[in-house]
Amino acid sequence: MPRDASAFLDRDEVDDLDAILAIKSDPNEVIHTVEDNADAIFTWDYERTRPSLSKLYEKAKSAQWNGETDLDWSIEVDPEEVAAAASALNNPEMMKSMGIELAGTSFEKWGEKEWTQVGIEQQNFMLSQFMHGEQGALLCTAKIVETVPWIDAKYYAATQVMDEARHVEVFAKYLDTKLSGHYLINPHLGLLLDDIIADSRWDITYLGMQIMVEGLALAAFGLMQAITPEPLLKQLLRYVMADEARHVAFGVLSLQEYYKELTGPELSDRQEFAFEAAVRLRDRLLAAEVWERMGVDPKEATLVLRPPDMDKNSDPFQMMLFSKIVPNLSKLGLLDANDGWLRQRFDTLGVSQFETWVDSSIEYEMLDAVTDDRAAAAAGA
Ligand SMILES: [Fe+2]
Ligand SMILES: [Fe+2]
Repeated sequence: MPRDASAFLDRDEVDDLDAILAIKSDPNEVIHTVEDNADAIFTWDYERTRPSLSKLYEKAKSAQWNGETDLDWSIEVDPEEVAAAASALNNPEMMKSMGIELAGTSFEKWGEKEWTQVGIEQQNFMLSQFMHGEQGALLCTAKIVETVPWIDAKYYAATQVMDEARHVEVFAKYLDTKLSGHYLINPHLGLLLDDIIADSRWDITYLGMQIMVEGLALAAFGLMQAITPEPLLKQLLRYVMADEARHVAFGVLSLQEYYKELTGPELSDRQEFAFEAAVRLRDRLLAAEVWERMGVDPKEATLVLRPPDMDKNSDPFQMMLFSKIVPNLSKLGLLDANDGWLRQRFDTLGVSQFETWVDSSIEYEMLDAVTDDRAAAAAGA
C-alpha cells in the first residue's frame, strides 16, 4: 500500500500554501546538472513484436514537419491579442459571477490596463513553461532510447526526440521573436523534471513524462489552441498537438503492457510517483512568478482568486490539468491498484470525475496537422 503523502512530498499538508510558495528557482543558473542513474540497454532481439508501437513509428515518420518552413513566421503578433485568451480567465466580471470578491484587496483599484498586463504575463509564463517542459521531454525521450529494452520502443522514441527538439525550437522562437523573452523554469516543474530524469527505472521516465507532463501539456495546448485568436500561435499549437497525441499514446501503449506484470508493492511506488507529479503540476499553476512581476503578493493573489472554499470542480485550471491524465492512469490500472489508493487521492484533489473520459491510446489517429495541411493545400491548388 502506498504511504501517506507526507512521507514523500516535501511538506506535511498537500495544500500548505506557504510551503508551496517557499520553493524558488535560481535566477542565475544557466546549466543545470542531474545524475540520470540509468543503464544503457542493448537488445539483440530485432523482432518487431509490438504492432501498436510499430504503427505509431510509421505514423511519426510521415508526420514530420519543419518549424522554420511549415509555420508562417511573417505573421505580426500583437501580445495583447495573444493575451486575450488568458485575460478571459482574469476578467473581473467573470470573477464576480464566480463569487470572487476583489473589494479590499490589492486588485480593488486595478483597471483594464492591469488586467490586460496580467493576461500578457500569464500567457508568457504559460508558453515559457511549455518550452521548458519540451526540453524536459527532449532529455527524457533521449534517455528512453537508451533504457527501454524493446526495439520497437527504441525506434519510436527516436522519432520523439526529433519532435521534441522541434517543439523547443518553435516555442523558443515564438517567445524570443514574437513576445518579449521568457520566464525562468517554474520551481515545481523543475523539481518534477529532476525527479523524472534522476530515476533509474525506465518506466518511470515514461510515467513522469509521457503520462503526467505530456498528458497535462496535451490538454493545455488543446485549450489554448481553441481559444487563442492569434493565427501563428494557433497554427504552432496545432502542429505540436498532433505530435503530443502520439507521445502520450506511446506512454499508454508501452506502460499498459509493462504494468500488467508488476506486483502490488511495485505498483504502489508508481502510484506515489503519479500523485506527487500531479501535485507538482498543480502547484505550478499558481504562477507565483507572474504575481511577483505584477507587484502582488502571490499568497494574497492565490487566496483572493482561488478561495479555499471554491468548488474544485468549477476550477477550469484543474479541469484542464487532469482531463487527459486521469483516464490514462485509469487505463494503466494505477487508479484501481492497492484498493484504489490513487483514486482516493484524486478525490481529494477533486479530479476523479475524469476517470471515464476517453484515454489517449488511439487519439493520435484523429489528429494529424501535416496531412490535414497538405490536403488543404492540394484542394486549394
Ligand atoms: Fe513536445
Ligand atoms: Fe511530447
